[in-house]
Amino acid sequence: MLRDRVQEAVDVLRANDRGGYTVPTQGLYPFQWLWDSGFVALGWAVLEEKRAFDELETLFRGQWENGFLPHIVFHRDDPGYFPGPEVWGTGREPRSSGITQPPFLAPVVLHLVRASGEKGLAWARKLYPRLLALHRFLHLHRDSEGTGLVAVLHPWETGMDNSPAWDLPLKRVPRHPLPSEARRDTKHVPPEERPQLKDYERYLYLVSLFRRLGYDPGFCYRESPFRVVDVGFNALLLFADEALAELAQLLGENPSEPRGWWQKGLSALEALWEEEAGLYRSLDLCSGRRIPRDTSAGFLPLLLPLPRPRVERLMATFRAWMGEARYLFPSVLPSAPYFEAKRYWRGPVWAPVNWLLAWGLVRHGFPKEAARLREDFLALVERSGFREYYHPLTGEGLGGQGFSWTAALYLAWARGQSSPPVGPSA
Ligand code: DGY
Repeated sequence: MLRDRVQEAVDVLRANDRGGYTVPTQGLYPFQWLWDSGFVALGWAVLEEKRAFDELETLFRGQWENGFLPHIVFHRDDPGYFPGPEVWGTGREPRSSGITQPPFLAPVVLHLVRASGEKGLAWARKLYPRLLALHRFLHLHRDSEGTGLVAVLHPWETGMDNSPAWDLPLKRVPRHPLPSEARRDTKHVPPEERPQLKDYERYLYLVSLFRRLGYDPGFCYRESPFRVVDVGFNALLLFADEALAELAQLLGENPSEPRGWWQKGLSALEALWEEEAGLYRSLDLCSGRRIPRDTSAGFLPLLLPLPRPRVERLMATFRAWMGEARYLFPSVLPSAPYFEAKRYWRGPVWAPVNWLLAWGLVRHGFPKEAARLREDFLALVERSGFREYYHPLTGEGLGGQGFSWTAALYLAWARGQSSPPVGPSA
């Protein structure tokens, strides 16, 4: 049974391979996306190590001279996606968007190096300066006050586009009138599984604002009405800082800069802890308040070395969530008033979140819970195929079909549990 699905997963990756990069799925997402590439590389690594590194090298072709890495690289034209390169108007070659996404890349490179030894080190040596430049950009331009945590300026930068956590900060963002036919996503996927038009109009307002500001990092930071310290983005960046420091050491480079970001960020993360709720929450920099919405992102600090009592408290909350969903891990607690079982990041289960949480649980010594995340994911694929996301109560497949990161993580997980590339189990 499992073997059949392995071959299907391989077929999905091969069908979405455009030569050096992989589209997340045909039709809905026809270009290269930043954080998708990290997860996709974990799958390619099972088949062909060199192809995994190629995925990241191709992504970095889109890097700007200031270190910024866009969330989409438009390697080829495709009229089936909105907003395409002409809407972004970043004037770069290759054409790209002008916002970023969670930098889940250094941990992937380190994971690949650990699996492929000397060969991997030689490939990683080429990527290292690119990664360092990206991390420098984020710590410099997205943390202008030097707090240790970075801001995102657009919900798309979090990767969790329509998370309920962005509802309140988005209220400050004007709506950019958008005829519903401008959207292409709802031609590929039922509208009730996608963000709503009122969200899209705000997403587009931010794009037009950044375009007017010429994508200048300082102007965009100051002028954006959406400025949020997202707990998910920061947990992933700090995890990536730790991996980058480790990579520096393996390559004979100086690890002190990434290590410094990591240490400072770990103490700053305390500002996001919500004792009463028993998990981490994002901070709205415009209001100065933590956002009172609980989402799966609030557990991602498990990727980091946390004090034991903190881990125990977080695990108590984790277990309460476990009790509410048939399939782990829901992006929102099913009993929350803002839960929507089918709507994108407002309830469904996503493969990358299961993967990241499992790495965090392995790191902190919870193999049973980590195994449950893996088993539920495998069961979802068995039941519904390689979908973009899944209904947490029924297991119904939702969103895009033949989805690359789902297939890639299935391959990476088919043979057993995986350990994070940093931390005690590395
Ligand atoms: C989309 O188009 O849905 C993406 O998430 C934005 O990058």
